[in-house]
Amino acid sequence: MLTIPAKGRSKEGVLEAMRAARDHDIKWEQGRVFGLVYHISDEIDNLLKEAFTMFFAENGLNPTAFPSLRKFETEVVAMTAALLGGDQNVCGNITTGGTESLLMAVKTARDWSRVHRPGIREPEMVLPLTAHPAFDKAAEYFGVRAVHVPVRADFRADVEAMRAAITSNTILMVGSAPSYPHGVIDPIRELAALAQEHGLLFHTDSCVGGYMLPFVRKLGYPVPDFDFSVPGVTSMSADLHKFGYAAKPASVVLYRTPELRRHQMFVYIDWPGGIYPSPTMTGSRAGGPVAAAWALMNYLGEEGYLHITDTVMKTAKYLQEGIKAIPGLTVLSDPEMSVFAIASAKIDVNEVADELELRGWHLDRQHFPACLHMTVNYMHAAVADEFLADLEAAAGVVRKPSLRKTASKFLIMLADFLTHILPEKWVSWLMGKVSSLLGGGGGLPSRLAPIYGLIGTLPNRGDLKELVLDLLDGLTRRAS
Ligand SMILES: Cc1ncc(COP(=O)(O)O)c(C=O)c1O
Repeated sequence: MLTIPAKGRSKEGVLEAMRAARDHDIKWEQGRVFGLVYHISDEIDNLLKEAFTMFFAENGLNPTAFPSLRKFETEVVAMTAALLGGDQNVCGNITTGGTESLLMAVKTARDWSRVHRPGIREPEMVLPLTAHPAFDKAAEYFGVRAVHVPVRADFRADVEAMRAAITSNTILMVGSAPSYPHGVIDPIRELAALAQEHGLLFHTDSCVGGYMLPFVRKLGYPVPDFDFSVPGVTSMSADLHKFGYAAKPASVVLYRTPELRRHQMFVYIDWPGGIYPSPTMTGSRAGGPVAAAWALMNYLGEEGYLHITDTVMKTAKYLQEGIKAIPGLTVLSDPEMSVFAIASAKIDVNEVADELELRGWHLDRQHFPACLHMTVNYMHAAVADEFLADLEAAAGVVRKPSLRKTASKFLIMLADFLTHILPEKWVSWLMGKVSSLLGGGGGLPSRLAPIYGLIGTLPNRGDLKELVLDLLDGLTRRAS
């Protein structure tokens, strides 16, 4: 059993072990991952680290103890509100990320409606199918039913279908700017008007776009209205640790009025430990990310963000053109910024992802329809040509028939048949076998396309959820 070592190790020994632990991590410094890491330069990283460590020990839980952090937080929030079309009333907080911001927005909507629409016992929120799963997490945590509405053929929210999903229990509607899976902006103006018409709250999830779309528009690209300039938008989220390029974890949640934000906050007055106020989900609040965000926004200024956005947009357009020029590949829809998805009607994109993985690139795989996710940020400008060359080579390999692929297809068909007659545990075992047969090696297989093929055929989504829970449990099982 793993315990705290009886005697401490040397500082160098500890750091060496940690360096070694990174060996198998994705090489983000080389721009090999799309999403997860947002990076501008070593110079900027050094600024972020310096600001972060300067406030490494401070705790934002008590703003009276650390007026410095209070200043940073309120100023970052104010600058974000101004960037997103907010007037003097718009207010908010820094959270630990998009998920916490969305949890807060849903909790606030629930508590607001408890006061303003007390007749509602089983609150619901209406959201496009493409909205981030953090809303579903919020739904589970806070007892709000999530009503998912299919999107249009261009992957944007379907306003009429959203209208049809509103019931007397609806408290909140949601739109994304842009959505994560396909990078397109929902028709926020129409959706927010619909919400207003029914007296509902409306959240624009601009976790991805909040710190980029205003600059994209300033550069002259078309960006539909999505922020507080739209009447009816009552709350928003924007992630500092995504296209704000700040240190993780940091996001901003905003409300149109202080009255609305009051429902986000928590106060407990009967604790022997004293009166306990807390603005967001967490108790203790790290000072580092708040300080780093403030430092970066002041260091870059609008000019810096415009320059970065210009580079990112040019890189994204260049990549999109390059992808469309590769036989068999296309870009889904017409995304407004630098988040998009690669799809194919002719070849299996999961196999393309496998081939890219073998060449050191990591792209997230999506489904309904199968596609590969791209979040292009500043660090990808330097690797765009290399990526396109590898993508072309990967697609070329996938286009060619091979014995491995025929075997893989046969095994998927066989497994597909068996999943209809075997219990869930056996399906799980079978998937393990298929993956090791086709992917080879221990741990996670190097080729995941067969697994994705099989997952797509599973007759029961409940089984799939259990399988994924098993996987998550296994990945985070205690070390021994
Ligand atoms: C649109 C959108 N909202 C919310 C989130 C959640 O953000 P986080 O991973 O920081 O919790 C994401 C993450 O990718 C996102 O794309």
